[in-house]
Amino acid sequence: MKYFVMPFLSNTFDSIGIDIGDRSIKAAYIKKHGKDFELLSFGSIEINPGIFDKGNILKPDQASSAIRQLVSSMGPKKIKTKYAHVCLPETQTFIKLLNIEAENEEEAKAKAREELPNHVPIDIQKSYVDSRIVEKIEASEEKMLCKVLSGACPQKISNDYADLISISGLIPVSLQIEAEAIVNALMPKELQQNSVPTAIIDIGAGRSSFILFDNNAIQFSVSMPLSSNEITVDIARTMQFTYEQAEKSKRICGFDPSRCEKQIIDILFKSVATLAENIIKNNNFYLEHFSGAKPIAAIILCGGGAYLPGLPRELGARLKNMSVKLGNPLINIAKKRKKIIKKLKTEPNSFDSNNENLDSYNIPKEFSQKHEMSYATAIGLALSNVL
Ligand SMILES: Nc1ncnc2c1ncn2[C@@H]1O[C@H](COP(=O)(O)OP(=O)(O)OP(=O)(O)O)[C@@H](O)[C@H]1O
Ligand SMILES: [Mg+2]
Repeated sequence: MKYFVMPFLSNTFDSIGIDIGDRSIKAAYIKKHGKDFELLSFGSIEINPGIFDKGNILKPDQASSAIRQLVSSMGPKKIKTKYAHVCLPETQTFIKLLNIEAENEEEAKAKAREELPNHVPIDIQKSYVDSRIVEKIEASEEKMLCKVLSGACPQKISNDYADLISISGLIPVSLQIEAEAIVNALMPKELQQNSVPTAIIDIGAGRSSFILFDNNAIQFSVSMPLSSNEITVDIARTMQFTYEQAEKSKRICGFDPSRCEKQIIDILFKSVATLAENIIKNNNFYLEHFSGAKPIAAIILCGGGAYLPGLPRELGARLKNMSVKLGNPLINIAKKRKKIIKKLKTEPNSFDSNNENLDSYNIPKEFSQKHEMSYATAIGLALSNVL
């Protein structure tokens, strides 16, 4: 779903993807390469505190000079296009699949708009709402039952982001909800239909989010009370480390008592416990509030915080009947993409991103696999140029 800005033009232009976060902005540029897709350019820039706050743009001039700097420093291929797919701040947007009975698609979308405020905390009069029919079933001679994926964003936020892109010398082709960009990055479209009930968890620097994907659609997404930077701050405070020392300890500890002090492991365990509790709570919410819902069977982690060594194992140990693994944001830019995806349909473990090397992907040699998790959203947005 492309939000709020000329959606019908979205695939017409050569465009980049830009993931704007409170503390960093990341961008990617993907083009067709024969039958495959290729990551031609990427880049990221850190953002000082006080420029954004929970998705609100406090200092547009500084934000726009960061975007200009980022785009001009992207490489290895220089960016010539001015068009960009941009994501809206996750904390300010809402997405939900609604079951609507209607006579036709137009009516279903209109009813979804009326229904949405009952499900998400928004002022509908001051929000942009967009929706897409994911599935329709004949319910009777006149009526059909539609599954309508509906998203909403406060008008002010959407307008501010469009303005920010414009004053940065770019043209916003679409403003997207982050959950959709992440799903597009991690789950090739061809595999979405066969997927088991899956939770995608994006563990970011300042916040985390939970996306429930099932029956070929996002069912809902919510924020999670976990921030990877907070873990670092917690370690720094407890151990009286500098922030840099704490960050380093976090990255090497791996829940391993031979590698770090017990107090650090305790902090990591506390975070995993919070994560597991919230996953269970969201799973219960799904089972109770969505008709025909089945329990989550798979957890896919992404975002830089997913690199916490040992996290999939520790999380998996706390979640019965759920497999936990790292996502692969490069899956859509794998070499021989079609062939790999065809094989993945029957053998889901046939392409293990942890065992593949850089040569398996159409990526520049400068792109280290060590940070692809952080690029999941930017890659998902950049895929709008080719999917
Ligand atoms: N190897 C690693 N081990 C543990 N944590 C890591 C590792 N690499 C990065 N991180 C953590 O990942 C976080 C950054 O993740 P990411 O780039 O996804 O955040 P972001 O998108 O900038 O933030 P947000 O989504 O909150 O706006 C940082 O907190 C960092 O400490
Ligand atoms: Mg992020």
